[in-house]
Amino acid sequence: MLGVGLLLKRFQFRRSEDLYHCAVTRVESIAENAIARDGRFTIALSGGSTPRPLFDGLRRSQRIDWTRTHVFWSDERCVPAHDARSNYRQAFESLLRHVPIPMAQVHPMDGEAPPREAAAAYEREVRRHLGDEGRFDLILLGLGQDGHTASLFPDDPAMQETERWIASVTVPADPPQRLTMTLPLIDRARHVVFLVVGREKSEVVRRVEREPSLPAAQVNPSQGQVTWFVTVEG
Ligand code: 6PG
Repeated sequence: MLGVGLLLKRFQFRRSEDLYHCAVTRVESIAENAIARDGRFTIALSGGSTPRPLFDGLRRSQRIDWTRTHVFWSDERCVPAHDARSNYRQAFESLLRHVPIPMAQVHPMDGEAPPREAAAAYEREVRRHLGDEGRFDLILLGLGQDGHTASLFPDDPAMQETERWIASVTVPADPPQRLTMTLPLIDRARHVVFLVVGREKSEVVRRVEREPSLPAAQVNPSQGQVTWFVTVEG
């Protein structure tokens, strides 16, 4: 069982092209509903390589009103924005520089400041825009081979966080220093969408269903919908 949120949806695809097409449509419909309801759309982008084709698809979208969209990140590596490992750089190069989003509505995490200060500053930024409710319309997440999501890794103390919304963590990956949303913030979202692509991820998807302690399995928005887009073998 993947997650136990209010509603859980899992869509399986043989072809990654089909997965990304459906994921783009999902983001577009969440954006249209948010803007119709609230006059704006707040999204947190995930990092890693998986979302890149999604960003390419969103770049061509005719349904998203970027002038009413605010972009945040679910995690970031503590590197300069020009560093190839930067999640901000990836999103900027493949999406944000191509769409009419006011840069004042793009809210990157600071990968160069001292991590603890950067985490506290980002939490203030999120609270400034979302208030104490802190409800993102959509948080995109990926899945690492060890079951991590965002930069919440198995057995990391940040997994036990109950108050702070953004944490600085040291993780067993390159680069080790990162900033990440914590479960208290992720679980406030209206929608969480996991994108998991590649046959090498099939086993970890099965592990997430069997091991509720894994970070990705812990995502459980009390008033939100978790949707998994996964490719399957064969
Ligand atoms: C990051 C991500 C991380 C990622 C997974 C999957 O900053 O790396 O937020 O959680 O989603 O590690 O990475 P891939 O998409 O590259 O497989």
